[in-house]
Amino acid sequence: MEVTRVLRMKEGMGDTSYAKNSFLQQTVISMTKSIREEAITNLYRSTLPGSMAIADLGCSSGPNTFFLVSEVIKSVEKVCQELNHGSPEHQVFLNDLPGNDFNSIFKYLESFKEKLRNEVVAGELGRCFFNGVPGSFYGRLFPRKSLHFVHSSYSLQWLSQVPEGVENNKGNIYMASTSPPNVLKAYYKQFQRDFSLFLKCRAEEIIDGGRMVLTFLGRKSEDPSSKECCYIWELMAMVLNDMVLEGMIKEELLDSFNIPQYTPSPSEVKLEVEKEGSFFIHCLETSEVNWNIYEDTR
Ligand SMILES: C[S@@+](CC[C@H](N)C(=O)[O-])C[C@H]1O[C@@H](n2cnc3c(N)ncnc32)[C@H](O)[C@@H]1O
Repeated sequence: MEVTRVLRMKEGMGDTSYAKNSFLQQTVISMTKSIREEAITNLYRSTLPGSMAIADLGCSSGPNTFFLVSEVIKSVEKVCQELNHGSPEHQVFLNDLPGNDFNSIFKYLESFKEKLRNEVVAGELGRCFFNGVPGSFYGRLFPRKSLHFVHSSYSLQWLSQVPEGVENNKGNIYMASTSPPNVLKAYYKQFQRDFSLFLKCRAEEIIDGGRMVLTFLGRKSEDPSSKECCYIWELMAMVLNDMVLEGMIKEELLDSFNIPQYTPSPSEVKLEVEKEGSFFIHCLETSEVNWNIYEDTR
């Protein structure tokens, strides 16, 4: 299956759109605020850029990418004020797969810029330039040495393709406790290939001294079929199996369907970064979020 051609979050601003159903992902962006601020402060202080190129990879559509971009720009402005420097120009690149609803993003751009100008207190906001970048982050997206700060949240769990050789994962749609060992191995291999390619491409695009903050949907456990990350797909598989029993979908269709995701453990992420060799990890943390995010906020 060509994930690049078919994957997209639900477009628009309707009740079932990603924009209206991504509060969990926004909470995740909030949780990484201090890590992002530290990365940006160190980046600015060590490179003192006159123009700052920022990329949000897997931005989707809706308020989350605006929220992230405003947080990043405010952090840059804050460190400039601390150092008594004028604001740099901000060049923002919003990336996602070509099927993403970029139109919805651009429709809200002017009101976003207006709001940002009002929110940046005690200083003038540097000029902001926005660019949409359609394409897979498992390939080169930007010219050499052109980016200062790369951000990606809740996107890198998506693989570039369903792993090969998982045809015997019958009755399941992802890694599960009943998956044969070759299926677990194939998923892990695909993650290794994809993530190391991601790192290699970013290493070519980021300036020396640049920074990345990556947030994965992952797991704490070393068991790839642990309930932490697989349970949601096991529930979905149960429903699909019932639909097969009721004759609503064909068994062959269910057997040939597998989700192109991998939720890595911290040590799997660390191993790939070290093996690829272009980046140094300053901080690697895991946090838990409640799937029912509204339970935490009532
Ligand atoms: C769950 S959304 C997260 C969106 C946003 N970062 C947020 O936190 O709300 C994951 C996004 O990753 C995008 N994505 C998945 N694979 C990708 C790839 N290979 N290249 C670029 N974007 C990708 C999807 O299209 C989707 O919009």
